[in-house]
Amino acid sequence: MIEKIVYPYDFSKFSEKAIPFIKDFSKLGVKKVIIVSVIEYEELFTHVLFKESEIRKLKEETIKRLENLRNDLENAGLETETVVDFGIPAKIIIKTAKESKADIIIMGSQGRGAIMNALLGSTAENVLRRSEIPVLIIPPK
Ligand SMILES: Nc1ncnc2c1ncn2[C@@H]1O[C@H](COP(=O)(O)OP(=O)(O)OP(=O)(O)O)[C@@H](O)[C@H]1O
Ligand SMILES: [Mg+2]
Repeated sequence: MIEKIVYPYDFSKFSEKAIPFIKDFSKLGVKKVIIVSVIEYEELFTHVLFKESEIRKLKEETIKRLENLRNDLENAGLETETVVDFGIPAKIIIKTAKESKADIIIMGSQGRGAIMNALLGSTAENVLRRSEIPVLIIPPK
């Protein structure tokens, strides 16, 4: 049975496409969603050369930005947890899925870096290649 979902969210409209499906899963017995939001290295470069206090602030801001989404999913009857970390998204998504013993990963086909006509972004592709659990990829349309 599917009880735990890992939901990688990059604040893009593509990743938001997954939300209605995640809510539907709650009706099928899913109890928990782990929202993973990875701060990518390119973002860090714009933050005063990795200054410790700036990095901490960025992490706190990201956690705050996830509050609405958490409330939305909790109102749909799901327990939520957030993982906010720095690094390569696919690596952190896979690591979180393993450590939390999740049953499925639900994500967008593209993200913030979307290029028109691209079928699959690099995070989606790498998660699909490396995941040991099923990956549900939501198309853009
Ligand atoms: N930084 C991130 N943190 C959490 N989830 C992410 C992150 N980046 C991407 N994802 C997840 O992966 C999905 C696909 O995004 P992906 O990054 O593969 O596409 P892209 O940004 O269009 O392409 P690319 O990153 O290769 O330029 C997103 O809809 C989201 O679910
Ligand atoms: Mg991306």
